[in-house]
Amino acid sequence: MEDGDFAAVLGPRRVGKTSVINVFLNEYGSEYKYLYYDLAFGMGREAISYTELTPVSTNISEEELEYSATLNLGLVKMDIKPRGIAEFQNAFLNLLRYLNKEGKKTVIIFDEAQVLPRFAPLNMLGMLQTISDGFENVTVVLSGSMPGLLERIINPTGDRPFFARYVERINIPRWDVKESVEYLKKGLPDSSEEELMEAAKELSNVPGFLAYYGKLRTKGRTHEEALSMTVNYAVKLWKEDLRNFIRIYKSPAYIIALRTIAKGPSYGVATEEIVTEITSTLKISERRAKEVLKNLVDGGFLVKPKRGLYQIPERPLRKAVLEFKAEASWEGYP
Ligand SMILES: Nc1ncnc2c1ncn2[C@@H]1O[C@H](COP(=O)(O)OP(=O)(O)OP(=O)(O)O)[C@@H](O)[C@H]1O
Ligand SMILES: [Mg+2]
Repeated sequence: MEDGDFAAVLGPRRVGKTSVINVFLNEYGSEYKYLYYDLAFGMGREAISYTELTPVSTNISEEELEYSATLNLGLVKMDIKPRGIAEFQNAFLNLLRYLNKEGKKTVIIFDEAQVLPRFAPLNMLGMLQTISDGFENVTVVLSGSMPGLLERIINPTGDRPFFARYVERINIPRWDVKESVEYLKKGLPDSSEEELMEAAKELSNVPGFLAYYGKLRTKGRTHEEALSMTVNYAVKLWKEDLRNFIRIYKSPAYIIALRTIAKGPSYGVATEEIVTEITSTLKISERRAKEVLKNLVDGGFLVKPKRGLYQIPERPLRKAVLEFKAEASWEGYP
């Protein structure tokens, strides 16, 4: 927060990105004026209206602002309905200009920020650029579970450098088995190491799912019950994520790619094999098929453990992909 105009909190799904931001606001929120936006609602949508861009929380109070800034805050919070994009955009910039001029340290946080470009024609990214260039007391924090997509926003192309040079990156990885077991042990001291190892492995060391499993056990569920309930929960969430992704990307090629990899060995499947599977089922070029793979990596559904190999990073996601077939009902599905 002190160093950069921009900070990005990056990491896979359910690792605790939002928690990091919430802890930050709890611990340090009083030192800053903040506007906190949660854009998760827009993840499965192609277009979103700027009128839906309302902060879920803010500590900027009207009392400390002068009249015109109060008006701007009202427009930014949509308490006062803006008469159009231009009015909203001006209100947003004017509010920040006022806070910046008053020397108030301000932070604007966008959770699931990869959704920001879908507010077009509202040019949010351009506004953030203006803010970072012009307002030295304002920091922008972007967070998101689709690291590659967020990266494209932060640093779109080499010839069009965006705010890349300013971004302070915070990467939150999944835990390793040791961290997972240590975490579970704190709440389940009487559990066998074997059970906790199994939970760590089946839930692929994802903090969110381990927390879910741990909670069920502290409520009296057996290891087997808690684990199967958590796996079901994880598979359900991953299916929703897949559905949201397909709604935006719309090609059966994504399902074919994922399914080919899910059926293969857990260490991964070779690029050629996946591309062949896609191009032999659908009439698309090899180049398009490779783009599909890149989008899946950027969306957080695949990783490349090494060159020429694609892998599904979590066990419940593998399961979700294999079960997804029967549910897909949109046009063009093979
Ligand atoms: N370090 C941690 N220790 C224990 N529980 C944690 C930790 N980090 C996150 N959790 C729990 O994991 C769950 C998911 O966390 P959170 O929502 O912050 O993750 P996220 O990365 O923002 O997920 P999403 O991809 O869904 O946005 C929450 O229930 C949270 O309480
Ligand atoms: Mg989150």
